[in-house]
Parts: sequence; C-alpha cells; structure tokens
Amino acid sequence: MSLFRDGGGKSIRPSGRLRATLRFPGDKSISHRYALLAAIAEGKSEIHFYSDAADCQSTLNCLERLGVEIHPQGGTVIIEGGGLGGLKAAKTELDAGNSGSTMRMLAGILAAQPFRSRLVGDASLSHRPMRRIAEPLARMGARIHMREGGLPPLEIEGAKLRPIQYEMPVPSAQVKTAVLLAGLFADGVTEVTEPAPTRNHTEIALEQMGAAVGRHGRTVRVEGRARLSGQKIYVPGDISSAAFFVVAGLMVPGSDLTLENVGLNPSRTGILRLISRMGGRVRVLRTEMLNGELIGDLRIEASEIRGGEIPKAMIPELIDELPVLAVLGTQTEAGLTFHGAEELRVKESDRLAAVAENLRRMGAQVEEFPDGLSLSGRQKLHGAEIETSGDHRIAMAFAVAGLVAEGMTVLNEVASVKISFPTFFEVLEKARA
Ligand code: S3P
Repeated sequence: MSLFRDGGGKSIRPSGRLRATLRFPGDKSISHRYALLAAIAEGKSEIHFYSDAADCQSTLNCLERLGVEIHPQGGTVIIEGGGLGGLKAAKTELDAGNSGSTMRMLAGILAAQPFRSRLVGDASLSHRPMRRIAEPLARMGARIHMREGGLPPLEIEGAKLRPIQYEMPVPSAQVKTAVLLAGLFADGVTEVTEPAPTRNHTEIALEQMGAAVGRHGRTVRVEGRARLSGQKIYVPGDISSAAFFVVAGLMVPGSDLTLENVGLNPSRTGILRLISRMGGRVRVLRTEMLNGELIGDLRIEASEIRGGEIPKAMIPELIDELPVLAVLGTQTEAGLTFHGAEELRVKESDRLAAVAENLRRMGAQVEEFPDGLSLSGRQKLHGAEIETSGDHRIAMAFAVAGLVAEGMTVLNEVASVKISFPTFFEVLEKARA
C-alpha cells in the first residue's frame, strides 16, 4: 500500500553542510492578530510582511465574509477598519480551514456582535477543543453552541458583553487573546490571568493600536469600549519557521547559517535560550525594536548539544518547536526529555504520537509519556517513510531529520507546509546550495 496521497510526497536526501543567509515569512501569530485588530480599528491599516501562510489567509477570508475591505498588495495587506461596530453578519459560514488561531481568536470578536455566526474548520480543526474559549465567552454573555465534546463547528450568538476576571486553566495565548478581544467590546475592564506566561503579541498589538492594556504579574487587563486606530505595521520573520533552520544548522556538521529579521520576542525565544544553555552556538548579531516587537539576525553554527531535560516552565515558550527539538534530541550527547507538554496532543495532530512514531520508523529509541517524550542521545537515524498526519510542523521537523539520516527519508505529503511556511522547501534548497 502506498503512503502517498495525491502524489504529494517528497524525498529528502542527507545533506552536506548548510551555509546561507536566509529570511522567513512574516510571523503567523502576529499576522493573525493585526488582521483581526485592523478589522475593528478605525481607519486604514497597512500590514507589511503579512504572513503568506494558508492559516493567515483563512483569517483574511473570514474577515472579508464579515464585510471587511481587504486589499493585498504584494507582501502587504491593507485593511479598512470599520471600528468596533463595523462588522456585518456573514451570508455564509466562516471557514477557518486548519487554523485554530483563526477560530479561537475570531470567536472573541464574534461573541460581541449583534448577529449570529457559524465557524467551521477542516477535519483536523474539527477535532480540536473549543470549550476553552466557549466557557469564558459564555461567562461574558455570548451564547456558543458546539458539537458534542466541545468540538467545532461553533455557532456564536453575539451579545452585549460584560467584563470578567478570568483565570485560564491551560496556558494558551489563543484563549487569552479571545477573552481580551471580547473585552474590547465590554463595558469595563476585562482581566485574564495565565497559569504560565504565553506569547504576548496580542498585548503588544493592542498597545500599538491604541487600546488601554496593562499587565500585573500573570494578569493582563484591557479596558472595554476601546477605540483602536489603524496603523502601519511591519511583521517580523517567524521564529517558529526559522526554528527548523536553527536545528538543521546545529545538527548538520560544518553548517553556518545567518537568519535575518527574525522575531525575537522573549515569549517566543525559549528555543534559543534552551539551545544556548545546552552548548549550541547561537549568536544574536543585531537587534532592533519594530512596532513594539524585538527583531534581529541570528548566526547558527553546527554544535555539540549536551541535551538534558527541558524545564516544564519553558514549555509554553517553545510549544511549537517541540517536534523539531525532539529530532535534535536524538543527536545530543545525553539525550533530551520533556514533560508538561500534553497540549501537543491537541494541536494540528497528536504531535507527541506523531513524533514518537516517525522517529521510531527512522530507527530511534523513544519513550512516550502522556505529557512528553524522552529521546536517547547520539542516535543514528536511517531514512524511512514518514507519515506527517497532514501536520505542517511534523512534515518540516522530519524534513530536517532527513538531513542527518542515512539514506532517503520520504515524507508522505508536503502540501501541509503551506499552513505556516509555503516556501519551506525553497528555503531548504537555498540552505543546501
Ligand atoms: C498560538 C498559540 C499557541 C501555538 C499556536 C499559535 C497563537 O497555541 O501553539 O501555534 O498565535 O496564539 P495555544 O494558544 O493553543 O497554546
């Protein structure tokens, strides 16, 4: 039986040293947030280097259906904001595609609209938990119907919202964002307390657009009835996309990569701190602040990585990088272990199971826990057939594994990379050249 779906597989051959200067598409998380905020701001926003990821296009498609005027111009997206009251009921359902961020964060805005909306997603998104946003939004006054088990589609009956103080049970930047966006429409101050710090792009974007937002310890607060104003924004390169090349550069002997204009917001750079601590040669060559976000250039050189245990407290800061870090773990001196990452089971695929299964196919020793993995170090990987589960980060993590494996690694599909990094294989070719 062939593993290939619509002939979309790809073979990865082992790589010689990687030497190149690389750039990455605009950050996916930041792009979503500015599109959503620009739609409810007053006046025009220009979002430069808006991510070309399919997920970010899903956000734009949903906003267009809600009556927002959007003009793409090369890598820039122009959005005509209609203010807090500017959205119109969509004539059809809103399709978030594969994008959990689109569905969860947009739900925060839809909860405050004087109309009903229906949000749907693809097969993967239709199995991802939504109660985590439905519960706080219902407490604010919206009515949200889900499929049994708290799964999409979501039917949202918007309402006049009241502010809440919400203690999040899971550390999730998407949930935090949904509540803060809803809070913009409420009368009074909405507060969200996170169990552990998660990415703070929403807080930064809110401030850039003129909302009254503040943080005290683990609590973020936003004042309601906000007047946001359209802005000209530059989106940094996506560190979660650069991460595949950070790991490739460290693992492939003789490599020396320069990664330019990468977002270096400290709530996202857990991977860099971890790797430096484990002996990886990662240097920050330059930094600047751009629209409230730190951005800079990195130099990555092939290194011996000691390995060890990833502290639980770091997990939210490197959650999306764990699949490729697990690949790196097999090449460390002492191996790599992490716990506290049960959230990986409810991403675009069950990423703990997918990483364990595919590493085993490549001949690696892997121990799988309910909330983590343990990889022995100094393992020889061999080429194998990889089942990506249609998950972009699994496909890219195993393309990177293939660089250091013996023989050919065959990914059963690679169409999924368009979800976050459509030019991944072009950038990989450039790095190998
Ligand atoms: C994201 C938050 C994280 C992350 C996702 C993007 C965001 O999800 O995994 O890729 O942009 O806020 P959770 O909020 O579910 O942890």
